[in-house]
Amino acid sequence: MDSKKKHLLVLNGPNLNLLGKREPGIYGNDSMETCFSALQARFPNVELEYYQSNVEGELINKLHEVGFTCDGIIFNAGAYTHTSVALHDAIKAISTPVVEVHISNVYQREMYRHTSLITGACVGVIGGFGMDSYRLAIEALLQL
Ligand code: DQA
Repeated sequence: MDSKKKHLLVLNGPNLNLLGKREPGIYGNDSMETCFSALQARFPNVELEYYQSNVEGELINKLHEVGFTCDGIIFNAGAYTHTSVALHDAIKAISTPVVEVHISNVYQREMYRHTSLITGACVGVIGGFGMDSYRLAIEALLQL
């Protein structure tokens, strides 16, 4: 492994394991496996890691685990975005920069998706560009 490679974590929250099957009219037809392989091919000089959990505490544990050593986290917290003070606190607690990501444009959707409890703890937000939101977040982190 190239020790100079940046290490970025793509972190997905609840229901994002069903991408490709879940509400394709909103989230598209691609699975996360397809998306992640495309990201690896696009960023050969970046060590990309992927982790998904439907469990809030497991997402917090992952943030703690990598949040002092890796170079950036691309975080789609799914519905926990709109509810979780604990995820906000976990992002604040670590030193690694976190970019909040959404596949859909949450501001074109239900009102309860217009509030994010994690934005204030993140370096920035990218949303509404489909699966390309993940690529854009990586580009942003690499330029920090
Ligand atoms: C989402 C938007 C959230 O409101 C929703 O709960 C998700 C996915 C997105 O990527 O567009 O699960 O984070």
